Parts: sequence; structure tokens; C-alpha cells
Amino acid sequence: MKKIMNLGFIGIGKIASAVIEGLCTSKIENAILRLSPGNEENSRYLAKKYSNVTWLESNQDVPDQSEVIFIALRPPQAEEILTRLTFKENQIIISLILLLKYSDLSKIVAPATTICRAIP
Ligand SMILES: NC(=O)c1ccc[n+]([C@@H]2O[C@H](COP(=O)([O-])OP(=O)(O)OC[C@H]3O[C@@H](n4cnc5c(N)ncnc54)[C@H](OP(=O)(O)O)[C@@H]3O)[C@@H](O)[C@H]2O)c1
Repeated sequence: MKKIMNLGFIGIGKIASAVIEGLCTSKIENAILRLSPGNEENSRYLAKKYSNVTWLESNQDVPDQSEVIFIALRPPQAEEILTRLTFKENQIIISLILLLKYSDLSKIVAPATTICRAIP
């Protein structure tokens, strides 16, 4: 049996919803997706549509319960929201934020050091 992948998402807008829909309709069967409360309507919709998607009540619940964390917030809000959260050293961070530089992001998500930017 394949190991379960615990994927978390912070910021459930247009781009995160597209990535989540893509993952849920792919051949990947061993992923559990945990979504932040914002946007609540999008998160609730996706959690209702896909059995492996869960909607969480706080942003901190996402890094608390995920190994890989996708960040898809808008640049003006991202820094403020992320600096309030606690990440762990062994987590993988995938940023979809176009205007957030690697050097700034790495300070915000420390002690996590495995960081990549995935700009579609
Ligand atoms: N769309 C694209 O094709 C695209 C392509 C490349 C890169 N990106 C990058 O992806 C990022 C997101 O873009 P987007 O188009 O998906 O924007 P978006 O639709 O506005 O999504 C941003 C989401 O963040 C949520 N949010 C706001 N405050 C929050 C909080 N305190 N906690 C948790 N979530 C919160 C918003 O929820 P509310 O709606 O409730 O405010 C919204 O759903 C941007 O940085 C952009 O540069 C987007």
C-alpha cells in the first residue's frame, strides 16, 4: 500500500482551486488534501465534492496537519498571514505567489528549508 501524502493549502482562490481540482482528478490516489478556511465557500465546495479533501477551521491547522504546504495567497496579505503561522523543519513549502521572492519566503517559513516556487 502506498504511503499517504498529506497536502495542505493556504489560500483557496482561483489558482489553488485549479491545482486541487487537478490533483483530485489525477491518478494520484494516496493524497489527503487539507484546506485553509479562506475562501470558505471554495473550501467547503471542494471538501463536499472530493472525499479526500478536508476543510480546516484555521490557517494554523494546515501546517499542523500537512507535510507539503501549498501557499496561494495574494502578495499584499501573504506576509502578514504567514508570519503568524508556525512551520516545521521537515515540511515542504510550495509557493504559487508570483511576487514573493525566495529569500523573503525562506525567512517567513523558517525553520522549513525545503521551499520551491511553482509559478504557472
Ligand atoms: N490565478 C492564477 O492564474 C495565478 C497564476 C500564477 C500565480 N498566481 C498567484 O497565486 C496567488 C493567488 O492568486 P489567485 O488568483 O488564486 O487569487 P485569489 O483568487 O484572490 O485567491 C487568494 C485567496 O486567499 C484567500 N485569503 C485571503 N485572506 C486569507 C486569510 N487570512 N487566510 C486564508 N486565506 C485567505 C482569499 O479568500 P477570500 O476570497 O475569502 O478573501 C482567496 O480565496 C497570487 O499570489 C498570484 O500571484 C495566480
